[in-house]
Order: sequence, then structure tokens, then C-alpha cells
Amino acid sequence: MWEYTNTVIDHFTNPRNMGEIEDANAVGEVGSLACGDALKLFLKIDPGSKKIVDAKFKTFGCASAIASASALTEMVKGKSLEDALKISNEDIARFLGGLPEQKMHCSVMGKEALDAAVANFKGDATKEHEEEAVICKCFWVSEKKIREVISANRLTTVEQVTNYTKAGGGCGGCIPDIQRILADVAHEKRVEGKTETPKMTNLKRIQLIAQTIEKDVAPMLRADGGDIELIDIDGTIVKVRLRGACSHCSGAKASLQHLVQDTLRRLVSNDIVVVEEA
Ligand code: FES
Repeated sequence: MWEYTNTVIDHFTNPRNMGEIEDANAVGEVGSLACGDALKLFLKIDPGSKKIVDAKFKTFGCASAIASASALTEMVKGKSLEDALKISNEDIARFLGGLPEQKMHCSVMGKEALDAAVANFKGDATKEHEEEAVICKCFWVSEKKIREVISANRLTTVEQVTNYTKAGGGCGGCIPDIQRILADVAHEKRVEGKTETPKMTNLKRIQLIAQTIEKDVAPMLRADGGDIELIDIDGTIVKVRLRGACSHCSGAKASLQHLVQDTLRRLVSNDIVVVEEA
């Protein structure tokens, strides 16, 4: 049984904007019934202002797929195309207060449908996907998609790739290819890091830690009735205090270790140590 946040349950049981826009001028369709999930996104875009004035969806999938599509339509309405395209699959998951790791592919499907709809509006929709190298034949996942998802979500293991794309979740025949792509992307990142990424200043590091706690960690805790407060940053030591439901939870220390520290190590720096202040 998956553990869903209240927001996921709300969007699943009471989905917003379900249906079709008859005069939609942007339609994005991704996934396939054969693979278990499919999503069709309809957008009505004002040709002058390029703002999304309406959004609806039809989907076939699980609770997370319905909730992700519902959330996406709420997120894009009223946005300019430029701003809508900045929405990532992580933003969709964050809007829902988090998704189970094994269900992150639903947020990826939402992001793909959005990109496809905007491409359709711009007339960019091509048969590109038909020409892409398909890595996973069980779920028809291309190398391009796997690369993009690894890169955007900083994935490092085959299991994560399966959770985010489904690739590798069937016969397993594509796993060696997924491992190769993971190694490729990691290598590219290392090269980029050596040649392009400037050393982070202390100020930037502190800002990034605070922003990561607020944008990535706190929403997950708040979804379960808890919260987190950043107390201080001393070099690589990040001092936090858990509040609300978390402070009485026997798993609070594990939450700190696994959620806060791992998230900060992944998104900011791998030498961060999180300690809990009483
Ligand atoms: S080819 Fe990817 S799981 Fe079967």
C-alpha cells in the first residue's frame, strides 16, 4: 500500500479540470494504454498574450497519475508559456506534498504532456519520438527520455530510473543500457563540473541550503503534519529543529538522516552533516 499525502488523496478523489477542451489549441498526449499509463493534456492558449487560459486532462492510470495531472492543470492555468515550461516534474511532486519514490514516473508523465502540448501549439511537434532510440521495449522508453530524467532529477541508480520512467521494470533486458546511460550522464556532469561550475561561495551555499529546506524538505514534512526549522549553519554542519507532528514521531531522527541530510547532500553538497537541535 502506497503512502500518499493528503494533497495527493484530495486531487485523486476530487480531480480538478478533468475532461476535454473542445477548442483546445495545444494538445499533448503521452504514455500508452499498453504500458499502463496514458495522459492527454488539453490547453487553451491565448494567441496574443501566450497565456494559458484553460487546462484540462484525460488520463488512464493510478491515483498518482490522476493527482499529478490534476495538479499540473492547476499549476499551469494563468501562466505564460514561458513560465509554464519552467515547471519540472519535481515541481509537480512538490505541489502534491511529495509522491512515493516508486510513483515519480507519474510526475514525469505530467511534465512530458506539458512539453508535448506546448510543442504542439508552437507547431514543433515532430515524429522525433518515433525516430528516437528506444532502450526499454517493455515500456517503450527512449534513451533521450532516460537521459533527461536522470539529469533533471539527479538520479544515480537503475532502481531510481525505473521509479521515474518505468524503464527496467519489466523483463530487465534493458538494465545494462540504463547502467551505461547512468555512467555516461555522471561522466558528463563531472566534466561540466570541472570546466564550467564556479566554486560556490559561502553566501550562495547558505542560501541554497535554506532554499532546499524550504522548497524540497519542508513540504514533505508539512504534508504529514510536521515541519522543520533551520536554526543555524556552521560550515558543513546544518542545525535544524523539527516541529509539530515530527517532534513526537519516533522516526524523527531517521527522517532527519534520510530526508534532510540526503536531500541536502544531493542538492547542495555531499559533505553536509545535519544535526537536530533540542
Ligand atoms: S526492455 Fe526494459 S524492462 Fe524489458
